[in-house]
Amino acid sequence: MAMAERLGGRWSRSRFAVVVVLLALVAVADRAVPRGEALPIGINYGQIADNLPSPARVSWLLRSMQVSKVKLYDADPHVLSAFGDTGVEFVVGIGNENVSAMVDPAAAQAWIQRHVQPYLPSTRITCITVGNEVFKGNDTQLKASLLPAMQSVYQALAALGLQGRVNVTTAHSLDIMGNSFPPSAGEFRPDAVPYIQPILSFLSMARSPFLINCYPFFAYKADPSNVPLAYVLFQPNAGVTDTNTRLNYDNMLYAQVDSVYSAIQALGHTDIDVKISETGWPSRGDPDEVGATPEYAGTYIGNLLQRIQMKQGTPLRPSVPIDVYVFALFNENLKPGPASERNYGLFYPDGTPVYNVGLRGYLPPMDMEFSEGNRKMRPDKKLITFVICRRFICFLSSS
Ligand SMILES: *[C@@H]1O[C@H](CO)[C@@H](O)[C@H](O)[C@H]1NC(C)=O
Ligand SMILES: *[C@@H]1O[C@H](CO)[C@@H](O)[C@H](O)[C@H]1NC(C)=O
Ligand SMILES: *[C@@H]1O[C@H](CO)[C@@H](O)[C@H](O)[C@H]1NC(C)=O
Repeated sequence: MAMAERLGGRWSRSRFAVVVVLLALVAVADRAVPRGEALPIGINYGQIADNLPSPARVSWLLRSMQVSKVKLYDADPHVLSAFGDTGVEFVVGIGNENVSAMVDPAAAQAWIQRHVQPYLPSTRITCITVGNEVFKGNDTQLKASLLPAMQSVYQALAALGLQGRVNVTTAHSLDIMGNSFPPSAGEFRPDAVPYIQPILSFLSMARSPFLINCYPFFAYKADPSNVPLAYVLFQPNAGVTDTNTRLNYDNMLYAQVDSVYSAIQALGHTDIDVKISETGWPSRGDPDEVGATPEYAGTYIGNLLQRIQMKQGTPLRPSVPIDVYVFALFNENLKPGPASERNYGLFYPDGTPVYNVGLRGYLPPMDMEFSEGNRKMRPDKKLITFVICRRFICFLSSS
């Protein structure tokens, strides 16, 4: 009983037994956590807010949920450092305001050397998005800069031997579609084609994916009396049959993705993967934003998670599991626009879930400090030890 004595001799035998049991639990739990069973979804970690937890705490939250992929809109050094040695994959972004500058190869090289190279391989940066929804606005200089900027970023990676380890792409909004129904007749907007055609050649050469932000919520909100709720929420329904292919679609998201595959194919490419860089559903909105409720948001995300876990592909690409980044991790209180824009989060800034879809995470309390050295421990073990120790401390202080 040397340990009990060292602790002041105030502990009873039974309390010491609890310590032993807890320590044993830590050891068992560490072995029991299946390291391969990460949640196969990505999450967009937006930070347009003034009340979010620190990246170090967010790193615990995401790891406790076993999230394997995170997408940023920038390359925040605090976030990238906080995820060192965690195995979490990162998409980092170059904002639209910085795209034109990246046309200059020296600027692109400086950016890679400063924002990507120092974090590799400890933080697994696997993709860079150059610009976000560039074809949504009408900034023609930005549109014209996009491909040259992507090329400069690619060359900068290649100069470091990192091409192939880090993809280079851009994320589009569904506004780039001129026609998206039926899916087999998908076409890009004629005014966007001159830009998108060479971008597709680049993606094909660079073996990088085509990213699309898809929100069936927008379609529902625009026409709630004609867009069937079950079709947008992945609930059982007869679906819609594409008369050209005879393929049946039981949800709008898959129809949107396949319309993009068709549009890409119409421009001559069958070798480019389409990935969903954003999708989500707001839990609150303005009075005129029909459908923005926690119930519908929970249904959308919960059903989407099930599809992802089933590794389902779309009707046109049944063997390619959908690859999805949910929007977003937190509600973001400083986002402009309608109320829905500030209410896409899976979590409130204090770490409580906005709705229950089985995604529970552990956000450590504000007063915890995480030293740099701590990061070197294996994340699962560290996390479980932490959670069990907290329970233990609670037990001691309450007994
Ligand atoms: C990106 O743009 C912002 C705003 O114009 C600027 O402050 C920042 O220095 C730019 N970053 C890079 C890496 O060019
Ligand atoms: C596009 O340009 C037109 C005319 O220059 C302008 O009226 C409109 O507001 C612009 N739209 C966007 C989305 O910026
Ligand atoms: C790059 O994108 C391609 C095409 O989607 C994918 O097969 C590959 O795994 C990606 N590379 C990395 C490092 O994520």
